[in-house]
Amino acid sequence: MSLQREYMVGRKPFRTLKPRHKTLMSNTLTLPDSTWPELQPGWVWLCGAGPGDPGLLTLHALNALRQADVVIYDALVQDCILEWAPQAEHIYAGKRGGKPSAKQRDISLHLVELAQAGKRVLRLKGGDPFVFGRGGEEAQTLVQHGVPIRIIPGISAGIGGLAYAGVPVTHRDVNQSVTFVTGHDQSGETPSSLNWQAIAQGSQVIVIYMGMKHVDRIANALLDAGRPTDEPCAVVCSATTNDQKVLESTLGALAKDIDDSGLEPPAILCIGRSVLMRQVLDWQGMIAGDAPRDLDPLGRGRPAESA
Ligand SMILES: C[S@@+](CC[C@H](N)C(=O)[O-])C[C@H]1O[C@@H](n2cnc3c(N)ncnc32)[C@H](O)[C@@H]1O
Repeated sequence: MSLQREYMVGRKPFRTLKPRHKTLMSNTLTLPDSTWPELQPGWVWLCGAGPGDPGLLTLHALNALRQADVVIYDALVQDCILEWAPQAEHIYAGKRGGKPSAKQRDISLHLVELAQAGKRVLRLKGGDPFVFGRGGEEAQTLVQHGVPIRIIPGISAGIGGLAYAGVPVTHRDVNQSVTFVTGHDQSGETPSSLNWQAIAQGSQVIVIYMGMKHVDRIANALLDAGRPTDEPCAVVCSATTNDQKVLESTLGALAKDIDDSGLEPPAILCIGRSVLMRQVLDWQGMIAGDAPRDLDPLGRGRPAESA
């Protein structure tokens, strides 16, 4: 008997329990009892805001939002997160591919200026500041100018965004490694410094940030290096927000499927068999009333709890 049947026999059909969203979090939400650091005048805290859903902020981020005089935020930071800092000045410093945006040097020096003017500065960046977020550069500039800093990590889109699509970035039956890749370098081109051959051969699961523009080149490089055309892929757009959309495809069809779908960045691409787990773990689909498509998408033939 297949696992699918075995699971269904003698069990109630899959049922959905609608989640309740009753609790409105107020701006006065108190932080749990603990010793929370003070954002002092003249300091800059570089903080990750997570991929979008404000519920994915850390408590340190919330503590920072409460205290800041100025919040300098990126394009992918949701407006509702800024509402947690009503006392602060909000300065937009977004950088979106292909659109006019502040120069990185100007942003870094602006942070220095604000700190030297005695402000409590919160630099709020999408995801995690140190994952393809130029957080390292900004932090280095601040230290070079003698400005004291604190780093507050955030949930990166390549992990949290995939989780919201029901794709575990590692899964024991699939991968013991994962490679995070940026789809374009400083010039806006596919990173020439990357050894796509090595990535294709050595990475069981590949997670690509900023990969939409050059998806055809990336897919071809991986195919040329021997990855199968039918390898499962997922594209998660605006992950964790109300606009989240997920496309499932295969490596051979990925570029065309993205083109046909009209999906737009920001998007995370995931290439590898862990994408198949979405068939059983698409929890957002289940909340909406869909049954899991396959309880055993990797064909293990035995329950997940058995070793
Ligand atoms: C400059 S990188 C910043 C990454 C960020 N520091 C992080 O850790 O997630 C911007 C890219 O991250 C990805 N990204 C960020 N937020 C996303 C989201 N909510 N949904 C999908 N992709 C996202 C996209 O690939 C986007 O082009």
